[in-house]
Amino acid sequence: MKIGALASGGGTNLQAIIDACEKGYIEDSYIDIVISDKKEAYALERAKNSNIFSLFLDPPQFLKFKKGMNIEDIMNDPIRREYDYKILKELKRRNIEVLCLAGYMLFVTPEILNEIPTINIHPAVLPSFKGLHGVKDALKYGVKVIGCTTHFADDKADHGPIILQATTPILPGENFKDLIKRNLKREYLIYPETLRLFKNGLLKVNGRKVITTWDEKHFDFQQRLLELWRRDINDYYNSR
Ligand code: GRF
Repeated sequence: MKIGALASGGGTNLQAIIDACEKGYIEDSYIDIVISDKKEAYALERAKNSNIFSLFLDPPQFLKFKKGMNIEDIMNDPIRREYDYKILKELKRRNIEVLCLAGYMLFVTPEILNEIPTINIHPAVLPSFKGLHGVKDALKYGVKVIGCTTHFADDKADHGPIILQATTPILPGENFKDLIKRNLKREYLIYPETLRLFKNGLLKVNGRKVITTWDEKHFDFQQRLLELWRRDINDYYNSR
């Protein structure tokens, strides 16, 4: 399976997917192109380091400043769609079968969404805490568990059918950075597993619902999530 990725930042999720492909966890698959809207995105370096074709596509200036638009305006914005069309052309040229949003900070419009299945990862248990600050907002609210979600992207923010979710306990007195790190460990598991399920035809979308077929690897994946919980709470309890 040929995977494309859009990324704006550090690309640690991208790295997890690259590694999962290289190890054969996602069978017969590879990332074929990484595109970024940010020249300095470390995700582009990661691509280069793995001999993956990478591309910086400079977004039109106005995209960077137009705040406060509603989502429908964003999706129908001709200049934004034109930018996405440029991305789409690159993806089509390379016959990309699935597109991963890996810390991509721009909205993706139907220009791409209608053409290529697109998957996003969000650092919260959707539908709670959508938006830019999933973890911060959850903490502010006082929840005891945060998490992450992979979902098919649609024309609303952090909204499409949910594929996988994982949860992370909030431990008393923990600093924000450490919490993010523990949550990211789940992200690095659920994103590759999402792609593996997709590749193997183990995901069926029925309206908002995604039905997952559990094979042995999926069972192992669920065990690894459990193991993270077990380790987190043991470490906390033993370090008090
Ligand atoms: C992750 O928390 C992801 O859930 C969110 O943006 C962050 C990206 O991190 N969409 P990275 O670029 O993969 O390191």
